[in-house]
Amino acid sequence: MDFLEIAKSRQSCRAYDRSRPVEREKLLACLEAARLAPSACNAQPYHFTLVTGKQAEAVGNCTRSLGMNAFTESVPAFVVISEEPYNLTAGAGAKVKGQDYRSVDIGIAAAYFTAEATAQGLATCILGWFEEKKLQTLLHLRRPVRLVIAVGYAAPGNPLRAKKRKTMEELTTWK
Ligand SMILES: Cc1cc2nc3c(=O)[nH]c(=O)nc-3n(C[C@H](O)[C@H](O)[C@H](O)COP(=O)(O)O)c2cc1C
Repeated sequence: MDFLEIAKSRQSCRAYDRSRPVEREKLLACLEAARLAPSACNAQPYHFTLVTGKQAEAVGNCTRSLGMNAFTESVPAFVVISEEPYNLTAGAGAKVKGQDYRSVDIGIAAAYFTAEATAQGLATCILGWFEEKKLQTLLHLRRPVRLVIAVGYAAPGNPLRAKKRKTMEELTTWK
């Protein structure tokens, strides 16, 4: 699969096949892609906590509130991405430039993870809606939790949707 094919076929999956666990080697391939992601000053300010089996049910519980993310009940695996501190240079750069590079870096790592998941035939949904304190307690995480990624196999009959995106003209300027 070339990258554009991956980008076109990846979509947020909200219906998973609960009976089909994700193979460890596929999760490892996704993690390897995330590990290779670029980051500001190569600080890699993140940690990935992989959750499968019974514990995945408990993580799913932490992503459902106010009617959001009801579908996570059937997700067999989650990656919880917590934020680690900057290294010295990234911290200094962030201060001088007034930028939060850690969130940028975490977004890039999540994109690498989900792209490789698509290449592996897996379905994913990046989740920004979760109960952070509950997750920290459940998984004994001391750092802030920034993203959760649902991973699994799409339930049968989950078609590829047409992408809703701004047009190229809206999104780009050439000078
Ligand atoms: C940072 C971030 C947080 C998101 N949080 C959620 C979420 O909590 N629940 C959900 O169903 N989708 C969530 N999404 C998925 C987006 O809604 C989705 O990527 C967007 O609508 C585009 O659709 P597509 O991924 O199917 O192409 C999130 C995506 C990102 C990048």
